[in-house]
Amino acid sequence: MVINVRTAVDLGASLAQALRYVNAWKSRTVVVKYGGSVMMSGVSSAGRDTVIEDLVLLKGAGVDPVLVHGGGPEITRMLERLGKTSRFVDGLRVTDEETMEVVEMVLAGRANKMLVSMMTAAGGAAVGISGKDGKVFQARKQDGPEDLGQVGEVESVDTTVVKLLSTNGYLPVIASIGIGREGQSYNLNGDHAAGALAAALGASKFILLTDVPGVLAAGVDDRPLSTLRAGEARRLIGDGVISRGMIPKVEACLAALSAGVPTAHIIGAAQPHALLVELFTEQGVGTMITP
Ligand SMILES: Nc1ncnc2c1ncn2[C@@H]1O[C@H](COP(=O)(O)OP(=O)(O)OP(=O)(O)O)[C@@H](O)[C@H]1O
Ligand SMILES: [Mg+2]
Repeated sequence: MVINVRTAVDLGASLAQALRYVNAWKSRTVVVKYGGSVMMSGVSSAGRDTVIEDLVLLKGAGVDPVLVHGGGPEITRMLERLGKTSRFVDGLRVTDEETMEVVEMVLAGRANKMLVSMMTAAGGAAVGISGKDGKVFQARKQDGPEDLGQVGEVESVDTTVVKLLSTNGYLPVIASIGIGREGQSYNLNGDHAAGALAAALGASKFILLTDVPGVLAAGVDDRPLSTLRAGEARRLIGDGVISRGMIPKVEACLAALSAGVPTAHIIGAAQPHALLVELFTEQGVGTMITP
């Protein structure tokens, strides 16, 4: 929805609608995944990072946002600087020991702390952790036809530390790294990890923010699908219309929905204040995935 500021009457109606939503969302958990594809570029078309602003505003309004983030492009850049090229199998980075070291340095270090810095600068109180802390993401090696090294899948989620932070006024910022039974590090797909966390927290909403405005169906136009049913999503994956990085997003939404999360959305981070519009307006933005 475009808030019409031309008349005070329209503005009043918009504010009343927004405030009704704000009240309805108080103390409810919203798990947000911020894609590495957009978060380091740092800006929406408003010329600044409104995602960070929105998260801080939501927290201030009494909502409980929890952020899970990726950092793919930054990891690739760092590996290149070290003279290492990445190999991907079905969108997953083959992660040998040396690569895992860099993944952890960049995700749990630079990317995580940069998000915390930005939130602090925006007036928020954020605590950045990796999924290893408090065993948020206990993980095991991902099985498959090819050995992907330390690519992991979530085995179990421990929400204790996340709730501890959330209920004490902090905005948790979680790097998508998992811990194995022997303390080893696993490189997790951020979308899957975020979906598992949304399910474990019993979140009221799961939102994936990425570099496209939603799920696009080829041949229509540039506008994303406003809703997408599970069956249709599987067909679009089968047809190759949904491919690469969009596959784990749709899968994570479907997993969260079947675990009882009421709504799951894939939305573009470039639209200014996309998170606020999604939460506090009837229309919302991007693509809503439905069971
Ligand atoms: N049907 C589709 N609609 C929209 N995007 C699609 C579709 N099929 C494939 N994609 C691709 O999915 C990409 C988004 O996933 P990607 O993994 O690149 O981003 P991210 O998850 O936000 O970032 P990161 O993985 O670095 O954390 C889009 O940029 C687009 O290229
Ligand atoms: Mg991705």
